[in-house]
Amino acid sequence: MPIPEDTIDKVRLSNNIESVVREYLPDLKRAGRNWKACCPFHNEKIPSFIVSSEKGIFRCFGCNVAGDVFKFVMLADNISWIEAVKKLAEKANIVIQETKQDVMRTSEKAKLFAILENSAVFYHRGLREKTTSAKKAREYLEKRGITNETVNKFKMGFSSKGQFLRWALKKGYTTTDLLKAGLITKTEQGFFFEYMSERIVFPIFNLEGKIVAFGGRSITNQEPKYLNTPETSVYSKSSNLYGLFQTLPELRKERKTIVLEGYMDVVIPQQFGISGAVAPLGTAFTQNHAKLIARYSDSVTLLFDSDNAGRIATQRALEILVENGIETKVSALPENVDADEYLNQHGKENFFKLIENSSNSAIDFMIARLYRDSLLYGKKNSPEIKAKAIYSLLDFVAKSSSAIIQRDWIKDIAQYLNVDEEAVWNEFKKKQKRKHKGHAGNDTKSLIPYFVENKKVPMSLEENLLNIVLSNRDYVKRVDSSCLRDERCARVFSLVVSGLSDVKILNALPQENRNWFSELTLNAIKYNDIEEAFEIILKDIKLDMLEKKRQQLEKEVLLMSDGKKEKNAKVIDKYNELTTFLKGSRK
Ligand code: UTP
Ligand code: MN
Repeated sequence: MPIPEDTIDKVRLSNNIESVVREYLPDLKRAGRNWKACCPFHNEKIPSFIVSSEKGIFRCFGCNVAGDVFKFVMLADNISWIEAVKKLAEKANIVIQETKQDVMRTSEKAKLFAILENSAVFYHRGLREKTTSAKKAREYLEKRGITNETVNKFKMGFSSKGQFLRWALKKGYTTTDLLKAGLITKTEQGFFFEYMSERIVFPIFNLEGKIVAFGGRSITNQEPKYLNTPETSVYSKSSNLYGLFQTLPELRKERKTIVLEGYMDVVIPQQFGISGAVAPLGTAFTQNHAKLIARYSDSVTLLFDSDNAGRIATQRALEILVENGIETKVSALPENVDADEYLNQHGKENFFKLIENSSNSAIDFMIARLYRDSLLYGKKNSPEIKAKAIYSLLDFVAKSSSAIIQRDWIKDIAQYLNVDEEAVWNEFKKKQKRKHKGHAGNDTKSLIPYFVENKKVPMSLEENLLNIVLSNRDYVKRVDSSCLRDERCARVFSLVVSGLSDVKILNALPQENRNWFSELTLNAIKYNDIEEAFEIILKDIKLDMLEKKRQQLEKEVLLMSDGKKEKNAKVIDKYNELTTFLKGSRK
């Protein structure tokens, strides 16, 4: 039993999207009928984040997020839909009757959080025990140069084999609870296996500071070197970064992140007072990681191991960060040296110097990769090889959505490879055009192209018609639903007909159509004479439909004249009639 629809509506109506957004973005400025600001979900200098109070929708043309006031709060606070509804309900003093299922889900999660927190406290205490293995753990930490302060800040811990299960069961947790929390697993032989045994335990905190999982570094030669607890209902690897919570206060001020490879690479730099050090958790860098970073920083330095695996991981992270509009640099450590070793040996100042001196721009890194992969050699490369190299670099350039950055990178590519910049730029534009062609695929031509952030967006006739109907519902009655054959247009139109508001339509649409719809409805085209525009569009759509019909009849008539089909005078008449009519109306 979900929250009743009318309660949700009430909450939505009581929270004007503009004033909710303004709490997060005080710089919201008027832009025609809408409001505009720099997007809080990606890094940008020129505002492309639009809010329409009238429609109750926001949309970013830079990073392609869109939605209603709930969606905004979900993203801004990193909370679930239900939490966003509750938060806004509370603000408006609206009481939400929680369903049984909700109460169960919330209490289930609360229980997991409590187990995880108590386990962390248990592991943390375990580090101080008098046993030989706890002593070994302390020695290990000391050997790696980790101070007590750091042990406490990261709540590191330790547990000898069997100790955790004994404690947990005595405390009253069932094995089912522990399995759900990801603390143990059942082996094929039916035994329970403790993930964090005989390992240095690194608790993983979420953004609110709740412990959601653990990573463990083996202190014996036990494989694997690092073992992580699995994903659970409160933990997803791809949306958490190790060390982020601990460095949030500094990150909020400095807005610079260093992404490193592992636990130790994060803990030691933070111990040395280096802010913004984070690492993905035993997994490749994801879109979610980039979005998380974009919220708290304007620039990123990637500092992965100087081996092949490290470079592959760097390229992947780089591509994702660039796609998300985050300025990214790549630095490198000497081969076979980890960040923690370097810091312990050479100190903070030298570490910063190293980062600075080895720093490469994104495009420099990509060019260097081509040399390393031996696609390019020294200075003398044949035109064919250069073309090949440029082609692969242009794929990377296309990941940035800023024309300024693209132009800059192309300048670098041209300089590096000693080719004409204009030629590279033209090649790039050609490549982009080919890519876009695949998407257009709509045969009804655009009547009036519209502009989003100076980009011309082709609009089909049907979209054009919907655009008018959405900004002026009086026109609904004058449109016959048969005019809309495009599936998503037809769907929107039927929702309009049933009297739904824009927000409701947005939420009723499948996820993949939401950006498209927001764009369509937020950009009401201004016409000198809307009535005339409406008539022209409607007429053109009808003519298009008739033309399709004529082509269909033509096929039949041809079959008849070839004797492959029985002659039908009615069809022939209809065909001739249509042909004459269309000739007359399309000069
Ligand atoms: P590394 O093997 O580079 O570890 O793995 P490291 O940081 O140098 O570790 P130390 O210095 O020997 O202690 C980097 C990261 O990859 C993940 C962990 O997150 C680790 O921090 N990893 C590595 C695993 O998840 N499992 C493994 O077996 C190894
Ligand atoms: Mn290491």
